[in-house]
Amino acid sequence: MIYELSNPLTKTLVTHLRDYSSDALRFRHTVEEITKQLMYEALKNSELVQKSITTWRGKESFNVIDEDNIVVATVLRAGMPMLDSAVDLLVGASAGFLGMKRDEVTHKSVLYYDRLPDCKGKTVILVDPMVATGGSMVDAIELIKQREPSKIITLNIIGSPQGLEVVSSTYADIDIYIAQIDEKLNSDKFIIPGLGDAGDRSYNTLKRS
Ligand code: PRP
Repeated sequence: MIYELSNPLTKTLVTHLRDYSSDALRFRHTVEEITKQLMYEALKNSELVQKSITTWRGKESFNVIDEDNIVVATVLRAGMPMLDSAVDLLVGASAGFLGMKRDEVTHKSVLYYDRLPDCKGKTVILVDPMVATGGSMVDAIELIKQREPSKIITLNIIGSPQGLEVVSSTYADIDIYIAQIDEKLNSDKFIIPGLGDAGDRSYNTLKRS
C-alpha cells in the first residue's frame, strides 16, 4: 500500500524543501516536521497497550503505543533527521542504522554499515527521505526482512512513481507512507522536480555553482 499525504500543510513544507534558499538548518527542521506528519498517519491505527504510571492521584494505567516493539531504522545519512524526529516521538523505540551509498555510475546501492538492533517480531519503521530508483529501499527492506520483523512500514518524503513501483511490486506487504510523489525520474536517476540531494542539503555538502 502506498499512502501519499495530501495535506496542504505537507505540500507547503515540501515546497520549502525544494527551495534552494532553505539552508541546512531549515532543511533538516522541515524534514523533521514532515516526518512527524508521516508518523501520525502511519501510526493512526496502532494498537494500544496499558501502561502503569504515577499520576497526581497515584498509580494508574493508561493507553500508549507499544514503543518497546518498535524499531526505527534509517539509511545514512539523509535519513538521520527523520530518525531523530521519529525517536523524539517514540522515546521507547530502539534505533537502527544502515549505511548505503548509491554508486553514481552503476546507480546501485552499496551497503557499508549495518547496525540494526533485534527486530524479531517487532514493527520496523524504515525512514529515508528519497525513493529515486527504489534500489536503496529494496536493499534496506531485504536486510530488515532477514531479521524477521512482524511488520515493516516505510516513511519517505519524496519519491518517483517508478521507484515506488519497484518497492511496492518487490514487497507487496510493505506499507509506504510518503509526503509527495513527484512527476518522474530523469535519465540521470534524479527525481523531477525533486529537491536535490537530501543528504547534501541536510549537511551542507552541496556543490553550488
Ligand atoms: C539517497 C537517499 C536514498 C537514495 C535513494 O542517498 O537518501 O538512500 O539516495 O536513491 P535510490 O532510490 O535510487 O536508491 P545517497 O546515496 O545520495 O546518500 P546520502 O544519504 O549519504 O546523501
